[in-house]
Amino acid sequence: MVEAFAVASGKGGTGKTTTTMALGMALAEEYDVTVIDADTGMANVLFHAGLADVETTLHEVLAGNAAVEEAVYRRFGMNVVPCGTSLAGFQEAEPSRLRDVVATLAEGTDIILLDSPATLGSRSAVLPIVLADRLIVVLQPTIPSLSDGLKVQEYATTYGTDVAGILFNRVTDDAAIDDIAHKAERYFEGETLSTIKESETVRAARRAGKPLLAYAPDSPPAAAYEQAASALTIQSQDPNVVADRFRSTVIPDEQ
Ligand SMILES: Nc1ncnc2c1ncn2[C@@H]1O[C@H](COP(=O)(O)OP(=O)(O)O)[C@@H](O)[C@H]1O
Ligand SMILES: [Mg+2]
Repeated sequence: MVEAFAVASGKGGTGKTTTTMALGMALAEEYDVTVIDADTGMANVLFHAGLADVETTLHEVLAGNAAVEEAVYRRFGMNVVPCGTSLAGFQEAEPSRLRDVVATLAEGTDIILLDSPATLGSRSAVLPIVLADRLIVVLQPTIPSLSDGLKVQEYATTYGTDVAGILFNRVTDDAAIDDIAHKAERYFEGETLSTIKESETVRAARRAGKPLLAYAPDSPPAAAYEQAASALTIQSQDPNVVADRFRSTVIPDEQ
């Protein structure tokens, strides 16, 4: 039973990494979850997961200098594959190897969450979206964010990646969000999984180097992520078939 989700948005700072870790922990209550920092140019899972000083990361794996298993860390009830933050590490990484990484991990887990880059500008940026079965789009309730998110959806569906749902984060206007979410559902192919408010607790969790659900499991934003996770219906697939598909994914040409 494997399904790979790309957590994506059109810009940085919308809360993709926060969401990846929070959804991951919520889903880990029921499934074996593997989180991969596929944002290899602007990696930050390691800061959200207390893994800032580990030696082997996805960069070394993508450079061909380490086996996948060496970059998997058991944290917060999940398997976490962090990525390094150095420019040299990014330059040495071969993006296409991500296919084998995801395929190898798919054979031993239920759900893969790919924390994805914010742009569509390069092969390394689009590959997580192309590889994933479905997309979770993280949006802020603003027109530019919705517009960016729609572009990601359009791109993803071109490559056969469906939208599992959208998630509004950093919401400040309680009165307007229902209307915005309702309108957005007309344009996005997935339902609204949850709405997370702008919250000091979310920021404090990041500063503490912990996922929100570990730092403040009883907080309102944690409850909102639990709700998002339970709104996701996980599709059951044969792990071997999925792994083969990941390995043979055709990588789009340079954008
Ligand atoms: N709901 C929220 N309320 C307040 N701060 C948030 C919220 N979601 C994310 N943040 C903060 O915004 C910053 C960017 O979030 P992050 O998850 O790293 O975004 P991305 O991965 O999309 O760039 C982080 O400092 C994070 O703590
Ligand atoms: Mg991020």
